[in-house]
Amino acid sequence: MNAVAKMPKTAKERGKIAPKKLAHVVLRTKEGNVQNILDWYKVVLEGEAMYENPGIGFVTYDDEHHRVAVLALPGVQDHVDMTCGLHHVAFTYENLHDLMHTYNRLKDEHGITPEFCINHGPTTSMYYFDPDKNQIELQVDNIPEEKFAEYFANGEFTENPIGIKFDPDEMSARLAAGEPEEQLLKRPDGTPPDLREFPVN
Ligand SMILES: [Fe+2]
Repeated sequence: MNAVAKMPKTAKERGKIAPKKLAHVVLRTKEGNVQNILDWYKVVLEGEAMYENPGIGFVTYDDEHHRVAVLALPGVQDHVDMTCGLHHVAFTYENLHDLMHTYNRLKDEHGITPEFCINHGPTTSMYYFDPDKNQIELQVDNIPEEKFAEYFANGEFTENPIGIKFDPDEMSARLAAGEPEEQLLKRPDGTPPDLREFPVN
């Protein structure tokens, strides 16, 4: 598909009735494992429980009553890699500082580290697995919303739609040393990783 010249109008702008927002993600887990999964999301997202019991729980970190819910059902099986369905859920941070702060907080205080870090071009992204191997992306937009269409039209993404890997410790150090975010978010030249290097879930 060719890049579009500009951002498509919202459904509302086209006179359509569409959802107001994406509300939440619900994860299924084994009986006895709800708290374990809820705790991981509370830590990773700086969330708090809206409600929790051994069978179900809701985590919130903003003005939505829940963004992630975890539900135990009898008969739930272990995760199987490479089945159809959801690949990952992404959460966007305000800026690179917040993303790197989160990277360091999770690593230093909780031993939670990403499986894979890549500058896709449009986003700088870190991919994590929760304890059930659901994949979660923590990211920051590299380009202001109003410039996304321009970016997709300039050929850089078409040339490399995968991205360039980065080392989060190096990124964090460069940021701490005062290198401007704008510069750090720019995708460096290089060879994209093989798709088989991406974490499999
Ligand atoms: Fe994503």
